[in-house]
Amino acid sequence: MAKKTVTDIEVRGKKVLMRVDFNVPIKEGIITDDTRIKAALPTIKHVIDNGGKAILLSHLGRVKVDADKVKGTLAPIAKRLEELIGKNVKFVANTRGEEVEKAASSLKDGEIMMIENTRFEDVLNNEVVKKESKNQKELGEYWASLGDVFVNDAFGTAHRAHASNVGIASNLETVAGFLMEKEIKFIGGVVDAPEKPLVAILGGAKVSDKIGVIESLLDKADKIMIGGAMMFTFFKAQGKNTGTSLVEEDKVELAKELMGKAKSKGVELLLPVDTVVAKEFKNDTEFKTVSVDNIEEGWMGLDVGAKTVEVFSKALDGAKTVVWNGPMGVFEMENYAKGTIGVCEAIAGLDAITIIGGGDSAAAAEQLGYADKFTHISTGGGASLEYLEGKELPGIAAIANK
Ligand code: 3PG
Repeated sequence: MAKKTVTDIEVRGKKVLMRVDFNVPIKEGIITDDTRIKAALPTIKHVIDNGGKAILLSHLGRVKVDADKVKGTLAPIAKRLEELIGKNVKFVANTRGEEVEKAASSLKDGEIMMIENTRFEDVLNNEVVKKESKNQKELGEYWASLGDVFVNDAFGTAHRAHASNVGIASNLETVAGFLMEKEIKFIGGVVDAPEKPLVAILGGAKVSDKIGVIESLLDKADKIMIGGAMMFTFFKAQGKNTGTSLVEEDKVELAKELMGKAKSKGVELLLPVDTVVAKEFKNDTEFKTVSVDNIEEGWMGLDVGAKTVEVFSKALDGAKTVVWNGPMGVFEMENYAKGTIGVCEAIAGLDAITIIGGGDSAAAAEQLGYADKFTHISTGGGASLEYLEGKELPGIAAIANK
């Protein structure tokens, strides 16, 4: 069902509450990746350019004790937003109270304000109260009382039912922002009505993280390619030697089952044919490429090999939709990055709808300079995984239907 968006409502003269996901990585006060802030700009600009008063809410990290509030402040994010949007952002270092209420009611058309980290409401005087994370009714009502309408653009948080998304939505007319709309179109599109053939490339360390996604895609995809350390659990299930590679022993049976299911559903499940093995889990150590049938004792697989990249690239030919989630190897280490680079290049070169399901593979595409070659790179980590698993996301469910 299509969702109402920010273009379906009048924002002029209105106090527009906006939930964004500015949960960005920060090291020693410096934002190391501002992708999520940039991704929210079109909606914020739309609101202010059309005479709305933007009141921004976001969480940052997890707040478990009062001390977490020091590094959890949104102050540096408000500053970065100011630079990116080229307008003053009034930051109120509080999540509620007189200062917040005054700032909201005195905001002029076209102005922007941001309140403090919504998760500060999870701990009060060192007591864990989880008002935000448990969606306390009064908190949702309180925040809703600050605005006239609610725009939810926080796709990254859509798998959470918190006061600042679902709570506010229970009290105000709620529409999607442009980012949310795009995520629903592309990530939701893979699940609901993908243009076929649909090919999924899944990597990452653990089968356990991807079980739900593999299960869900077995009903939709034409081909599923498996890379990353989770390939070794599949190899173990095939009775191959895996040396000292990462294997989830308790998922070996499941890997067998998944291969069986793929067969019975007529889905082509492709596993790597070669792997880059090393003596130790570090870049500066002896390494070589071997067939997956020849992994010797004392060696661990840390990437897929060049032949696998070739096989995967060929298998991508003719795909109309490609969804990629999870790197092919330990791409942070130069010697084990080629598999991820190769697959990234192959997908980027396709004439197809190409989607990256967030997390590490999004970071890889950014780092490798391929970000603009993809149709869509999701800003969600956990949210995109749960969406691809076919789950209903509470943050999306709470947005009004058209
Ligand atoms: C994310 O980065 O996945 C979202 O911002 C949600 O954060 P959370 O896992 O702390 O709820």
